[in-house]
Amino acid sequence: MTDSTGFDFARLSARERYKILIGTVIPRPIAWVTTRDAAGRANAAPYSFFNCLSADPAIVALGIEFRPDGAPKDTARNIRDTGCFTVNIVSDALAEAMNVTATPFGAGVDELEKAGLATAPGLAVSAPRILAAPAALECRLHSFLAISASREIVLGEVVYAHIRSDAVDERLHVDPAVIDALGRMGGQGYARTRERFDLPTMSVAQFEGGAPPPHPRRGN
Ligand SMILES: Cc1cc2nc3c(=O)[nH]c(=O)nc-3n(C[C@H](O)[C@H](O)[C@H](O)COP(=O)(O)O)c2cc1C
Repeated sequence: MTDSTGFDFARLSARERYKILIGTVIPRPIAWVTTRDAAGRANAAPYSFFNCLSADPAIVALGIEFRPDGAPKDTARNIRDTGCFTVNIVSDALAEAMNVTATPFGAGVDELEKAGLATAPGLAVSAPRILAAPAALECRLHSFLAISASREIVLGEVVYAHIRSDAVDERLHVDPAVIDALGRMGGQGYARTRERFDLPTMSVAQFEGGAPPPHPRRGN
């Protein structure tokens, strides 16, 4: 980077920091989170402040803002009330249905029904999963991180995974072409994951010997 524009985060508004982060940390995976409220009613919403942070234990994180009036979003409230949630993976074919579930309906409205999505009960947790999703991770609440008055981070431990049978083989290789996941970009943008390549990590000897790696870049 020979010429760059600098931004001191201490001098930016929350909105400006948000714009810079969502425009640069791309693509972000999308957790399409399903929960139940205390009365058992289903809820779904997408969250792209999301990632897998650890495999042992298997920990995922969600960044959930409060609503403009300071009330918690339904997802955060339901996770607190029931101690669980399910992360459904959004394939390209499900983009529009996912977007319906981001509509700020009132509490108690079943976004899954509005989006015409069928669900199955969770096997390990009470949250339902979206049947059309190519993968779903059932999670038990690990902890909430109260990072500010306007947002909190939820850590969940994955206790059960459902993966479309034609997307996973006996060696646990998950086929990204079948998952066909969407990523979230800045603004209202999304990215597909269809352009991929493999690039194996080299040993130090391979690097220092100047030898090409055993498998050079392969893919499209
Ligand atoms: C692709 C996408 C990603 C989103 N990511 C987040 C996020 O990371 N954190 C957040 O608070 N809201 C996020 N939202 C907004 C919520 O989905 C939205 O506020 C939703 O109505 C919350 O629903 P709930 O009250 O049922 O939880 C996102 C919306 C979309 C479309």
